[in-house]
Amino acid sequence: MAIKAAIFDLDGVIVDTAKYHYLAWKRLAGELGFEFTEKDNERLKGVSRMRSLEILLEVGGLSGKFSEEEMLDMAARKNGWYVEHISRMDESEILPGTVECLRGFRNLGIKTVLGSASKNAMLILSNLRLAPYFDAIIDGTKVSKAKPDPEVFLLGAKEAGVKPGECVVFEDAQAGIEAAKRAGMKAVAIGNPDDLSGYDRIYRGLFEVKPEEIIKI
Ligand code: BG6
Ligand code: MG
Repeated sequence: MAIKAAIFDLDGVIVDTAKYHYLAWKRLAGELGFEFTEKDNERLKGVSRMRSLEILLEVGGLSGKFSEEEMLDMAARKNGWYVEHISRMDESEILPGTVECLRGFRNLGIKTVLGSASKNAMLILSNLRLAPYFDAIIDGTKVSKAKPDPEVFLLGAKEAGVKPGECVVFEDAQAGIEAAKRAGMKAVAIGNPDDLSGYDRIYRGLFEVKPEEIIKI
């Protein structure tokens, strides 16, 4: 089936927000009295906010120690610190090749879609001045099931008016690659072959992606 839409994850594909998520989670861990390393943070990539908190508490040996209300409060505090960081972002933080890639797909008549788990996606896109580059934007405020559930990508295909089999997804997280495959879409991984599996193609970044080749996969 010919490719008619390219769906992009945000964090780790278009922008490196993992460092800001890390600073905020580390601060929360510090308040709770334990160390949270960058290696631990790898486990949070592509994972929803509440699931990330559960993993963080697991790392600190604090699983099951807090009420739902306390958990929501901790997640809200973490998000407040995270938002402080992303509020200061600008176009200089767009990862190399992003704009060329988005333009390249559009020049070929391919729809461009954002498919992110983040509830902060609109703030980031607006600071990066990238919103006009997308035909449809699906973020964490529009979906109820986290990746690897395919909901976010299926909704993206629907909003773009194309079939799932006509989509290619760009993802840096294993949960996202799985979500793309479950949706019946092609998956292009962004990252290191040692950390990811199950993809159709892999590149180090969007700067290596050639839209005219991708539409033939
Ligand atoms: C994903 C990130 O894109 O969004 C995760 O990879 C993050 O690390 C998730 O937890 C949810 O983000 P937010 O901004 O809604 O807390
Ligand atoms: Mg990601």
